[in-house]
Amino acid sequence: MAKIKILVGTVYGGARDVADGIKPVLEQKGYQVDISEDPEIADLTDTDNAAILISCSTTGAGDFPPGFEKFYDSIQQVGMSLSHLKYGVIALGDSSYDETFCDAGKKIDATLEGFGAMRIGRRLDIDCAEYFEATEPALPWIEDWANRLVG
Ligand SMILES: Cc1cc2nc3c(=O)[nH]c(=O)nc-3n(C[C@H](O)[C@H](O)[C@H](O)COP(=O)(O)O)c2cc1C
Repeated sequence: MAKIKILVGTVYGGARDVADGIKPVLEQKGYQVDISEDPEIADLTDTDNAAILISCSTTGAGDFPPGFEKFYDSIQQVGMSLSHLKYGVIALGDSSYDETFCDAGKKIDATLEGFGAMRIGRRLDIDCAEYFEATEPALPWIEDWANRLVG
């Protein structure tokens, strides 16, 4: 069974809720889905994964949640080719943080792309000032993303 790993960066649990919410959609499409709040480089190099998904909020002033920061730093340090990797990004933020809206998701997206990985579809930037439940916009998005992954 093809695998998808969801790598979560969260402070208050919203990005984890999104991962938990989209997991059954992917399972229904026949994927084995694992969720990790402690992502590591091995998740990017594991060729067993058909793709990885990032669900990551922004904290501070455009910063990564603590658990995600070291993952991001290690990608930069290792600096390997990720040309085998397909990925998607769900970025959680709040538009009242004008200048740094969804910056963590934007940064990981640009970094993966910079190392040669292929993003499937567009990044989903969720404005949590607009959605009480961040999972709401993620459900139609994941349908589209999964269709593009096979297509
Ligand atoms: C202290 C603090 C700083 C934040 N900084 C930003 C920011 O710079 N940019 C942004 O888009 N959202 C920012 N947010 C909004 C969070 O990203 C948003 O509330 C998100 O839903 C939190 O997700 P989580 O529950 O997974 O941590 C901040 C929130 C807090 C409480």
